[in-house]
Amino acid sequence: MPSKQEQLGKLNEKMSKCSKCSLRKNCSRVVFGEGNPNAKIMFVGEAPGKKEDETGRPFVGAAGKFLNEMLAVIKLKREDVYIANVCKCRPPKNRDPLPEEIKLCWPWLEQQVKIINPKIIITLGRHSMERFISEEKISEAHGKLFVRKIKGLGERNFFTLYHPAAALYNGNIRQTLIQDFKKIPEVLEKIKKEK
Ligand code: URA
Repeated sequence: MPSKQEQLGKLNEKMSKCSKCSLRKNCSRVVFGEGNPNAKIMFVGEAPGKKEDETGRPFVGAAGKFLNEMLAVIKLKREDVYIANVCKCRPPKNRDPLPEEIKLCWPWLEQQVKIINPKIIITLGRHSMERFISEEKISEAHGKLFVRKIKGLGERNFFTLYHPAAALYNGNIRQTLIQDFKKIPEVLEKIKKEK
C-alpha cells in the first residue's frame, strides 16, 4: 500500500493536468494543498489568491500569515495540519468561486480527504462551509462542531470558522475568529472521547 505522501503525490500529478473548468486557463498554476499527510486536522479554505497563485502554496498571503499566528496560539505549526481549498485554481481578480467551479473541483478535495482521513475538517469561510454544511449560515454556525454524512466520504466531523481574510478588515470578526480558533483543542478532545 503506497504511503499517504505517495498517494497525495500521485493525486497532485493528476490535478496539475486538470482543465475541467475555465479557471485553469487564467491562473498560473494549480494550488494542490500542503501539510502533514497524517494530519488530524484539515483546513479547507476557498480558493488561491495572488500570492498562492504565484507560489503554488495555499494560504501564504496576508490571510495565511494570520492563520499561522492563530495556529501558534494553539501550539500548532503548519507542518502539523493539512491545508487545502475547495477550488484549486485562482479565480480572476480574486472573485468568489462559482458553484459550478466548486462542483467541478470537488473530486480533488474528496480524494484529498479520503487519503488524509483527518479527524476533523475545519472550514474557513462561507464557501468552504457550504460545500459540506449547506443549510447553515456562517454567522450562526461559526465556532460549532457538526457531524455530517458526506456522499463519498461517510460521516465526518466539521468545525466552522470565519475566513481569516474577513478578519483582516473587521475587528469584530477577528476577535470572534480568535475565540473560535482557541476552541479547536477542546473540540478535538471531545471527538476523541466520543469515539
Ligand atoms: N484564501 C483562501 O481561501 N485560500 C488560500 O489559499 C488563500 C487565501
